[in-house]
Amino acid sequence: MSRREKNPLEMFQSGHLVKICAPMVRYSKLAFRTLVRRYDCDLCYTPMIIAADFVRSVKARDSEFTTNQGDRPLIVQFAAKDAQLLADAATLVRPYANGIDVNCGCPQRWAMAEGYGACLINNPELVRDMVRQVRNQVEDVTFSVSIKIRIHDDLTRTVDLCRKAEATGVSWITVHGRTVEERHQPVHYDAIKIIKESLSVPVVVNGDVKSLREAETVQRVTGTDGVMVARGLLANPAMFAGYEETPLKCIRDWVDVSLEHGSPFTCFHHHLMYMMERITSKQEKRVFNALSSTSAVLDYLADHYGL
Ligand SMILES: Cc1cc2nc3c(=O)[nH]c(=O)nc-3n(C[C@H](O)[C@H](O)[C@H](O)COP(=O)(O)O)c2cc1C
Repeated sequence: MSRREKNPLEMFQSGHLVKICAPMVRYSKLAFRTLVRRYDCDLCYTPMIIAADFVRSVKARDSEFTTNQGDRPLIVQFAAKDAQLLADAATLVRPYANGIDVNCGCPQRWAMAEGYGACLINNPELVRDMVRQVRNQVEDVTFSVSIKIRIHDDLTRTVDLCRKAEATGVSWITVHGRTVEERHQPVHYDAIKIIKESLSVPVVVNGDVKSLREAETVQRVTGTDGVMVARGLLANPAMFAGYEETPLKCIRDWVDVSLEHGSPFTCFHHHLMYMMERITSKQEKRVFNALSSTSAVLDYLADHYGL
């Protein structure tokens, strides 16, 4: 299929729930994206990439961004605080992706200290300038520019931020329904509903969705256009296809895909640990997690699961 046929903007217009794999540093790489796409994931994000490094260094580009023809539709997520650098990064990835996203939600201390991530929700003018600069520089209306945010304690500030981004041409907005300070508190789906009702652009809900059924419920209660999932997909990459637990077939697929892609051992092994979390006993986990080579993992899977 061509890039046009798989354009995310058209997906949002279709009225169907758009099922999205979240940006995840170290995890939402090409091999994992290939896997989740086999199980009904409609749209994938790369891990966050620092736009300034990406623009300045070929080495950073080669190590941070790998894709292929089947890896569509694809959104490249950037950490950015400079409109021109972001637009230059967007220009570089344009031939290989359907759009870029600006991380305005990362609450980690290092990111906030650098002026990246969630501190951007307190700087709507900069967010607006970044969206505008990409829109002006990338002459392709089908290339999306989206933002991923957290909410403020005072929701009027979030709505103001979103409206400013909307007025500048943001393609859609993903809302993680927690404030910067919140970690494990319940997600404020009520806040996301209010944000959705205040905007015309599509809104994607994110936070604590662990199954297809939950995705459908959360979409219904918030009225949003898409559901983005991170940890639920790590635990069960087949969840969007309706599986309540990771099926053995999906584990087999991960082995095949990651060997094909030459994933480093730690990546290969970490994903399996996540996928097998719910289906292995404590004792099995201790043994499995201590394995230190691909052949040891393959032997274990063959002996215990006949894979
Ligand atoms: C391992 C991991 C890495 C993440 N990396 C990113 C990232 O690169 N960019 C980003 O915007 N959010 C990142 N997040 C946050 C997720 O995209 C998501 O907003 C958050 O985990 C809440 O969704 P969930 O409840 O479905 O996990 C990461 C989360 C996890 C668990």
